[in-house]
Amino acid sequence: MSTCPAGVDLGPLNTLALPGHAARYLRVTAAGQLAAADTGGRRFVLGSGSNLVLTGDFDGLVVHMAIPGRRLLHEDADAWYVGAGAGENWHDFVQWTLAQGWPGLENLSLIPGTVGAAPVQNIGAYGVELAEHFHSLTAWDFEKQAFFTVDRDSGRFAYRDSLFKQEGWHRDGRVAITAVVFRLPKAWRPVCGYADVAAELVAQGIASPAPRAIADAVIAVRRRKLPDPAAIPNAGSFFHNPVVERDVAEALKASHPGLPCYPQADGRVKLAAGWLIEQAGWKGKDLGPVGMYERQALVLVNRGGASGADVQRTMAAVQAAVREKFAVDLTPEPVFL
Ligand code: EPU
Repeated sequence: MSTCPAGVDLGPLNTLALPGHAARYLRVTAAGQLAAADTGGRRFVLGSGSNLVLTGDFDGLVVHMAIPGRRLLHEDADAWYVGAGAGENWHDFVQWTLAQGWPGLENLSLIPGTVGAAPVQNIGAYGVELAEHFHSLTAWDFEKQAFFTVDRDSGRFAYRDSLFKQEGWHRDGRVAITAVVFRLPKAWRPVCGYADVAAELVAQGIASPAPRAIADAVIAVRRRKLPDPAAIPNAGSFFHNPVVERDVAEALKASHPGLPCYPQADGRVKLAAGWLIEQAGWKGKDLGPVGMYERQALVLVNRGGASGADVQRTMAAVQAAVREKFAVDLTPEPVFL
């Protein structure tokens, strides 16, 4: 465990590269440290900072989850049960499962972040969400000073949502996920209906893709459309795709026939925020040092030297433009600290 009473620079610890310091910092490399350390007062639980907007200095404790480890816990006739520490890099973990011959997570390749952060917003891409392969997790409750477990039914997973967001636990630094278990069924089915991935496989001349081929196609699509945070600081999709009532979607579609619409199980309709932002004139447009990426308008980028206030200014301008043109509200996806 390392603590730093003089404060720690959070700039290198968030992928938007926003400036800020934390008054106190604790790097956790084993779950047992959580019970032993003084974690009282205001608190924020950090993974790799890839879904974070730092609005300035933080006067509390940053708990940086860096617990390593990944292994096969159990195998039965139907599935592999694979466990990983919260601090494992998500993409490396996915590639490792594929190398072991345990498919299922290939569509989630190259998503930035850690294993421990993945269930919080139920990460998803190209037709697969984490929840589909989630088995259980262990977390530490700072208030009760006790570990607890969450299984698939109690996780309340939905689009970019989970128990942790619904209860506000993550925002309030109430809990820290320490380890996650995935259930990877042996009866594997490829999920390659998503247009970008399907097109990539056709371009590569692959008709019956193996898990590795799907991972490679996903990686190629992501590299083409999404900026590498190491080169252009960003936090992935900056807004949720808005879900609206069917009559609202139909009225919008009548006036804007190109509008992508995805009907949901509950009868509502998910719209493509990137399309709305592009149509509102914000694709590749900047306000000061913060803009919306030229190849994917849903990704907000720091062009260099931006502060949290700069991010909030661009965010508000984009929201206002979309509201004015479409009367649709965009909700930011990252956590604000
Ligand atoms: N679109 C535009 N202009 C743009 C961007 C998108 O017209 O600048 C249109 C596309 O042509 C397409 C539709 O919007 O018709 C959807 O775009 P895309 O397939 O790129 O996906 P997305 O809805 O923008 C979501 C996730 C991504 C995930 C992709 C692929 C959210 C908030 N984002 O993006 O997740 O990788 O689907 O599954 O749900 C993330 O959450 O950080 C993230 C990158």
